Order: sequence, then structure tokens, then C-alpha cells
Amino acid sequence: MSQELFPRGQWKSRVGFILAASGSAIGLGNIVFFSANAYRFGGGAFYLPYLLALFVFGIPVMILEFGLGNFTGRAFPESLHRVAGRKGEFVGWWANLNAGFITMYYITILSWVIGMFFGAFGALWRESLPVPAFGMAEGELSNPYAYFFHMLSTWKPILFVAIVWIFNILIVRRGAETIESATKVFVPLMWIFMVILIIRGVTLDNGVQGVYLLFTPNFSVMKDPAVWQGAFAQTFFSLSLGFGIMTAYASYLPKKSDLTTNSVITSLLDSGFAYIAGLAVFSILFAFAIVPQASTLGMMFFIIPQGIGEMPQNSVTTFGVVFFALLLLAGLTSSVSLVEALVSSMRDKFGWSRKKTIAVASVIGFTGSAIFALPQVVNPGLEDNGTLGLTLLDLVDHWSFSYGLLIIGFCECILVGWVLGADKIRIHLNENSKIKLGLWFDILIKYIIPLALLLVLGYSVWGEVQNGIYGTAYGENYNEKFSFLRFAPRIVVVYWLVICSVVAFVLARRGSFAKAE
Ligand code: TRP
Repeated sequence: MSQELFPRGQWKSRVGFILAASGSAIGLGNIVFFSANAYRFGGGAFYLPYLLALFVFGIPVMILEFGLGNFTGRAFPESLHRVAGRKGEFVGWWANLNAGFITMYYITILSWVIGMFFGAFGALWRESLPVPAFGMAEGELSNPYAYFFHMLSTWKPILFVAIVWIFNILIVRRGAETIESATKVFVPLMWIFMVILIIRGVTLDNGVQGVYLLFTPNFSVMKDPAVWQGAFAQTFFSLSLGFGIMTAYASYLPKKSDLTTNSVITSLLDSGFAYIAGLAVFSILFAFAIVPQASTLGMMFFIIPQGIGEMPQNSVTTFGVVFFALLLLAGLTSSVSLVEALVSSMRDKFGWSRKKTIAVASVIGFTGSAIFALPQVVNPGLEDNGTLGLTLLDLVDHWSFSYGLLIIGFCECILVGWVLGADKIRIHLNENSKIKLGLWFDILIKYIIPLALLLVLGYSVWGEVQNGIYGTAYGENYNEKFSFLRFAPRIVVVYWLVICSVVAFVLARRGSFAKAE
């Protein structure tokens, strides 16, 4: 272990920090997952739970994560170590590892976005191709489905995975410095692309009607706990909370920064982006009477492209390309944030050089992403998601997204609220912030948020037990060779839990931290 001081890096400006943090927050989650959830949970019914989740959970936990990073000047594991010793550090690594799983498949999804981006220049909109891997003749499956599944059953996405990883490496290569330069260009561009899509959407005949659909509340669904579970998980994911990202990013800020205001700005930029993305998506779908889907990937790769494909001839290519370029930019500024958070945590611990740390993180990350891109067809009926990679992706996502983030949210509230004392962080934050936090902050962090998270998690586990641990969803239709996948739901949950816990345990038990400036 190196005993020399290593430079952790610092943001050049407050604007740079906000662009990077909001770039992390704004991602696929805002552009398509939000719309898919809104549709799934009754259109306008979703934005009320979401808004409440934003103010009661999202913003306070963002303040907590920013505060923690700035208070300690370290990434998540070392920050939590300073709060609660090795137990805290365990939670920090656990969060990073869980987020590592999410990043692996998030990058695989981005690799498919690259494939669709190329398709958007022409092939995606043409007559549908045969999809031989699934035994389908030409025209049997229409576009964009045919194009997508054709791509999925080839090895091309693995090449695209490599490309996305290379982009990530280039952007994080000098840490805050290179991230700041990239997000300064990418994040404003994302907003511009989004505005272009909205203008196109609402100027389509009947497009505005879709907006009414999105904003008409339906209070009856709010009695359903699933809506709240959806709203909480979506809020955490969308705001990049429970990953350890915001703590790492805030550790690169000078001590005298106004973190509370920064949290509010970042959160509002994020939810604002989700709402306006909803305008674009719902207007485009409504204009062509296309029914949205509750499946997030379905929305992204089939439903929205279908809407774009219905646009007047001269718009199709342009808006298709803009849509996938937007997804790619938004996804990259999110995925780099976790790569940076991991690099930051590992450097804090081992004092490795940036080069070495990035190399280790990206070799492991690339391997994981490549697994989710595996093209083997497990079920020619296109059921249970069709390819081995997509099947695994779906299973891992179920645990790391719906459970992992909320479990971390619970743990960090307990550690900071009770072990450190919420007042300590509040006083530190209030020293430099225009917005002063009151006692309500302590009450939220110590009681309300952990309790609500526990309820939602308890509800989900109960559902899991009733359904036989996600077992019933996975069917009998697999090819003989892949029949072992019937057990995959149970195997995957064990892998996820064991890998996160054992690795976090080993890391937290071993050694001390390197000295940084
Ligand atoms: N907030 C992002 C979104 O809404 C998700 C995200 C942030 C993410 N950082 C990430 C996903 C890192 C994977 C890896 O899409």
C-alpha cells in the first residue's frame, strides 16, 4: 500500500459539479423508465407518489449523500468507515458492488442503444428482416422488433459493449477534470435534444392529448403499495442514490460548498427532465394511438421507435437518430458516474494509480456487460426474453434495482441518522448553505425514511414469498440446452447477495485506507 499522498481531484466550478451530478442523475431512467412506470401505475396517478417520494425521500437522501462526501472528503466506503467503522465500510462497499451490477447491465443496454442508433439511419425503418436465430422468416416479426432481436442474436452487441466501455474510460481518465469537460458538452446537448423531441411531439396532430393523459391524476391506484414501491425505487435510481455516486462526486468539492442548495437544484433538474420527457413520449405515442408498455426496455426499443416510425417520412430518420443519440449521451453521463465512484473508492482504499484502478474496474465491468450481451437464443418463442444475456439481465435487475438501492437507502439513514447523528451532518451543511435545514431533516433521516423504506421492502419480500421468489415468472419454454434457466431466478438472487456481501466483507475487514490529500 502506498503511503504517499495521492491527489483526489476537484471540480473546477460549481456549475461543473451540478452538470456532472445532474448528468449522473438524468439517464435512461428519466427518458423512458419514468414514462413506462407512469403508464404502468395509471398515467397521471404516478406523478403524485413520485413527487412525494422526491421531496420526502429523494432530496433529503441526496442532501445526506452530498453532505457525507463533503464532510469526509472521501468516497462512500471510507466516508461510512469514518461514521461507523468497519460496519459502515461494509455498507459502502456493498452499495458500490450492487451498483456495479447495475452498471454492467446498464452498459449492455447502452450497447443496444448504439445498435439502434446505427439502425435509425435507415435499416430500422425498412421492411422487417428475417430473424433466423429465432426461426422466423422475413416479415414474421415487424420492425422495430425484428431489427432489435436480430441484433440481439448476433455478437455485435459485445463489440458495442466494448465501445461503451472505451467511452467511459476516456471520460473518467483524469477523474473530475475529464468528467467536467465531457458533461459540460453532453448535458446541455441532452436538454437541447429533449426540447427538439418535445416540440416535434406536441406539434403532431393530437399530440397534446397525450399530455393530458400523463397529467390526469387517478387517485384510486394510490392505495396500491406497488405504486409506492415503484415510486421509491424509481426515485432512488433516477437520482443516483444508493450507488455511492453522489458521495464520491461531492468529495471533489471544496469544503465550503453549499450542498443543500446543490442537492435541491440537482434533484429538480432530474425530476424536471423526467416530466418533460414524459411530454415528448406521451405526445408521440398518443398522436399515433400507440399503447405504451409497462416494460421499460419495451418502451425504449419498440414502442417509442414505433411512434417515431409513424411520423411523416421526412422526420423519421432525424428524430430516430436524435432519440437514440439522446439515450446514449444521457446513459454515458450516468454510467461514468459510477465508474468514477468505484475508482474513487478503490483509490481511497488501496492508493493505486488512477490508470491501474480504471484498468481493474473496466476489465471486470466489461466482462459483466459482455455476459448480459450473450446472444444465445434460449427460447425461440421470444418468451422469457429470448436470449441468455437478456434473461440474466432481467433477473439481476429485479434484485439490484428493486431491492439493492432501497436496502442501501435504509442502511445509510441508520448509519448517518443514528450512529453519526443526523444533527452533525445538518450543522456541517448549514454552515455554508443558503437553505437552512431544520429539525425536520433529522426526523426524516432517523425515523420517517427508514420506516417507509422498511415497509416498502417488507411488502416486496412478502410478495416474493407469495410468488415463490420470482419463480413463477420464469417458464417452461426454454430450449432443452437452457432448461437449467428454470432455476435461474433462485440462483441469481443467491449470486447477487453472496457476491455483494462476501466481497464487501473482505474489503471492509482488510487493511486501512491510503492517505490522500
Ligand atoms: N440515474 C440514472 C438514470 O436515471 C441511473 C444511473 C445513475 C446509473 N448512475 C448510474 C445506472 C450508474 C447505472 C450506472 O438512468
